[in-house]
Amino acid sequence: MIPKGTKLLCLVLCLGQRIQAQDRNFSIPTISAVPGSVVPWNETVKILCKGAPESYLYHLKILRNSKYQQVNEILGYQKEAAVFTIHPMDANSAGNYRCQYRSYKGWSEHSDALDLVVTDTMNQDYTMENLIRMIVAGLVLVALLAILAEDWHSRRVLHKEGRQDLAETSCSKQKCQTEWTLQPAPNGHLADTWKC
Ligand SMILES: *[C@@H]1O[C@H](CO)[C@@H](O)[C@H](O)[C@H]1NC(C)=O
Repeated sequence: MIPKGTKLLCLVLCLGQRIQAQDRNFSIPTISAVPGSVVPWNETVKILCKGAPESYLYHLKILRNSKYQQVNEILGYQKEAAVFTIHPMDANSAGNYRCQYRSYKGWSEHSDALDLVVTDTMNQDYTMENLIRMIVAGLVLVALLAILAEDWHSRRVLHKEGRQDLAETSCSKQKCQTEWTLQPAPNGHLADTWKC
């Protein structure tokens, strides 16, 4: 819990800073990306920082480890805006950017944040490849399961049939034995009377 005093102090300070900034008649710089903030990997992107006519120094910052670190600076008066060129675009260049300018009045406030996103065409290909691989693996798995199920089913049927066969043979043996006992062989050969 933050003590009330601290909160109040912050409020006063923050308000004070705002009033001071307004007093100095600073306009907040505007940041934009050309051609856009979604950039294909290895392409070029320009970050425009538009300040006031009297600004003579521009800083571009990126958010790293929850702190804004300076990436680049442009010194000199600009007609329209300071142009920071980022090339080649990669994962390191992607991130949250802000800019700031300096005039004889001092440093301006930070601009709004600009999120630069890199689209990795190679990764997209990998994704597609992985998808195909997964589908193939899935089909193989299904085929394997089908084979296993088929095998299990036929084993069960065989087992049943086997038991039936066993029952039948023992039954016919009994019959034969009964017949044999009922009809003793006239010639003495036991095998002749087996009528299985
Ligand atoms: C990156 O872009 C440069 C041109 O700016 C090109 O020469 C290079 O081949 C590209 N690299 C890849 C891996 O596409």
